Amino acid sequence: MKQVYLDTFGCQMNVADTDRMELILFHSGYRRTLEKEDADLILVNTCSIREKAEQKIFSLFGGLKPLKMANPDLILGLTGCLGQQDGEKLLQRMPYLDFVMGPDQVDGIAQAVDRVRDTGKSFVWTGFDREKAYTIPELPMPKAPGPSTFVNIIKGCDKFCTFCVVPFTRGREKSREPDELYREIRQLVDHGAKEIILLGQNVNSYGKRGLHNPIPFHELLYGVAEIPGVERLRFTTSHPNDFTRDTIRAYRDIGILVNHLHLPVQSGNNEVLKAMRRDHTIEEYRDLLMELKSEVPDIALSTDIIVGFPGETGSAFEDTLKIMQEIGYSSSFMFAYSPRPGTPANELTDSVPEETKKQRLQETIALQNRLTAEQGLSYIGKNVEVLIEGRSSKPGYTFKGRTPQYWNVNIEGREGMKPGDTVSVKVEQVSGHSLNGPLAREANSKSSLHPSGA
Ligand code: 5AD
Ligand code: SF4
Repeated sequence: MKQVYLDTFGCQMNVADTDRMELILFHSGYRRTLEKEDADLILVNTCSIREKAEQKIFSLFGGLKPLKMANPDLILGLTGCLGQQDGEKLLQRMPYLDFVMGPDQVDGIAQAVDRVRDTGKSFVWTGFDREKAYTIPELPMPKAPGPSTFVNIIKGCDKFCTFCVVPFTRGREKSREPDELYREIRQLVDHGAKEIILLGQNVNSYGKRGLHNPIPFHELLYGVAEIPGVERLRFTTSHPNDFTRDTIRAYRDIGILVNHLHLPVQSGNNEVLKAMRRDHTIEEYRDLLMELKSEVPDIALSTDIIVGFPGETGSAFEDTLKIMQEIGYSSSFMFAYSPRPGTPANELTDSVPEETKKQRLQETIALQNRLTAEQGLSYIGKNVEVLIEGRSSKPGYTFKGRTPQYWNVNIEGREGMKPGDTVSVKVEQVSGHSLNGPLAREANSKSSLHPSGA
């Protein structure tokens, strides 16, 4: 039996791609190992969204080089966004690499490994096939999916925000046929999945390109919600410009669609939004969320924020703090702007000094911590509904899971629960974005807790 070691950097799309490679390689006789030293094949699935991600990857490869030197039979591959972005340059920089692949070649991972075996030559395999439909052929699953499972519905991005490499590394938007998605979701549910998270760089654009039977995103939501056994439905990531009124109505109509939305704002200032080519104003963004809140009052909102974009003045930055406060995000992913090769913003002067970026980043983090803490405290003494996802690593707690609003929950005590169960937990303590407590007493009757049972 051959062994593969897989390492993943970056976003959920990359995690999904790594899982796919693991599955394909399983069918070519590879088993995953957690020890690099035992591996016949090492794959690093890379990210190039910010410079820091790249630096981490290069330092990881520095550590892998001696393994390859000691064992020339070891196959070493670099996959993912950095592969697509830098291609040949990576082979020049790291001649001990056997191959470099892009995100669009994931389904060819077994062929890539065979090619190294057959020829002994290193190669780069990147690029996009515009004509090819986006399909993920079904393969038997050797292990059950977790209770909460991602399903890719769309790949690529056509938005071209000026700071972002994704349209270049993951190519043009393409959606997967609804029938293929429904089939995959039925299979996942048959194997124990309870929560389905529809995944894509911009899920709201679903159905616009690449489909024989195009349906808009909200119709896909209604379709998935009808599949028996799907107990919770989520999606990520959304773009404000493609987020429709019909999707707001779907939140109101679909009981199992969770009360959480991740809607990146990036900046609270109109000038900066324009320079980022987000193509909406902060007023439009706010109005959209207000409308959603009026339909779904207890919806939790999270976001992505970039500080220090070229030209961001002190007062423009204050606007970002203002929108954070106004919306009251439950959590945020916050980043200092990092110039990326090939992006339009890379042509602008990176005008905000690193020190200022750092300071602004700290300010957003401090504000978000306050907002999260305030909301967390409001849960104390209340019962929350939790889908158990696995064992908790927090001392004194047995299981962990998430609420519909996507708060982490650590559950105290009683055995007899298992991943996949939905239970009610009484919140007694809060730490960061985690709610902690014991099972609520009325949790004995599981069926009464099922949102889909209504
Ligand atoms: N610099 C900093 N953050 C970035 N992001 C994307 N590109 C950059 C960049 N060049 C952030 C955005 C995006 C998230 C996935 O990463 O906030 O929504
Ligand atoms: Fe990048 Fe903008 Fe596309 Fe998001 S919407 S992936 S930030 S280009």
